[in-house]
Amino acid sequence: MKFDFDEVIERRGTDSSKWNSNSNPNFLPMPIADMDFRAAPEILAALHKRVDHGVFGYADAPPWVVEAVQEKLFRDYGWETEPKWFVWLSGLVVGLNVACRMLESAADAVVTTTPIYPPFLHAPDFTGHPRIDVPLLQERTRYEIPWDALEQQLASPTAKLFLHCNPHNPAGRVMRREEQERLAELCQRHDVLICSDEIHCDLVLEPDLRHIPMATISPEVAARTITLMSPSKAFNLAGLMWSFAVIPDVALRKAFLRSARGIVTELNVFGYAAGEAAYRHAGPWHDALIQVLRRNRDLVRETVADLPGLWMPEIEATYLAWIDCRGRQFPCEPSLYFEKNGLGLSHGSAFGARGFVRFNYGCPLPTLQEGLRRFREIVAPLARVNA
Ligand SMILES: Cc1ncc(COP(=O)(O)O)c(C=O)c1O
Repeated sequence: MKFDFDEVIERRGTDSSKWNSNSNPNFLPMPIADMDFRAAPEILAALHKRVDHGVFGYADAPPWVVEAVQEKLFRDYGWETEPKWFVWLSGLVVGLNVACRMLESAADAVVTTTPIYPPFLHAPDFTGHPRIDVPLLQERTRYEIPWDALEQQLASPTAKLFLHCNPHNPAGRVMRREEQERLAELCQRHDVLICSDEIHCDLVLEPDLRHIPMATISPEVAARTITLMSPSKAFNLAGLMWSFAVIPDVALRKAFLRSARGIVTELNVFGYAAGEAAYRHAGPWHDALIQVLRRNRDLVRETVADLPGLWMPEIEATYLAWIDCRGRQFPCEPSLYFEKNGLGLSHGSAFGARGFVRFNYGCPLPTLQEGLRRFREIVAPLARVNA
């Protein structure tokens, strides 16, 4: 089946947060992480069917949806789960906050690596816990975990929870098995719980890399892990607010549920229909999407490589390119300068990294080409730093 990922679909006037982010009709927004693609036909059909039923009361997770999720986890990761392990959530950010809220003492600290998706930085603050940031090492072509620094922080007596992001937003890294094992071993050794945000798990772009859920490393690791997942990124369903936590350990699950009480409510009925269709029927659409995202990522990489002074790590997963602009003399914070010149990119400072921008390439080719044209035109006249 052929899917047209290069059709430009008008999103202005459709309540899109991304396309509402600037009222200038000539502004091109490429920040917030959703894609400008229509969802898979199988998902649209499932949603139409649900609409046609016409009754939209509160919903519990239907057993066939639970089965669809379990089958997906087994098919893709060999992960055998039980229905009772699932906690349904209206978003992964909710899950990050509920996990932090679970910590017992106000002194309990949350460890994470930076740069990082901003809600990782906010969740500890919102829930009144100290945050310990461990900056990733910016190597020649990618980010690496600073193992000694991380161990030192996890060993701190107050460190109780590690907020892990894999695949990593914005670093674009897919953790290798050895890295996952080493992270897990450190958390076990220092008795630190793991909340593993794996929302980008279905967006691995390198053919020889596989996503490895943290909880599949061993039963002992699974027992200290809260895994957060959703089809929302890879199937472009973010506005349906449908996601889940997988928590095999009964005590941990009870603590999570206690912390969610009165805050996490029933989920959107459309989410169940779309989620099941995504996991059961949208495989061919998803395969085609990955090809398009690889092409788009390569175009962004080529543009950045043509502009000396800029740096972009290898983006192994996600549709988000992370670009270090510190090698060019921007007159102000780069994201603001791009914005002033008609191109909306995410602000690096929100991720804990001034001087960086994040470029969302989950869009049709004409939109991407225009975004890259503007990007080049804005950067090219700027002098190099120390050149
Ligand atoms: C790592 C990560 N976690 C969570 C989210 C958002 O999750 P949700 O919309 O389900 O709250 C995003 C969105 O970009 C993300 O990149």
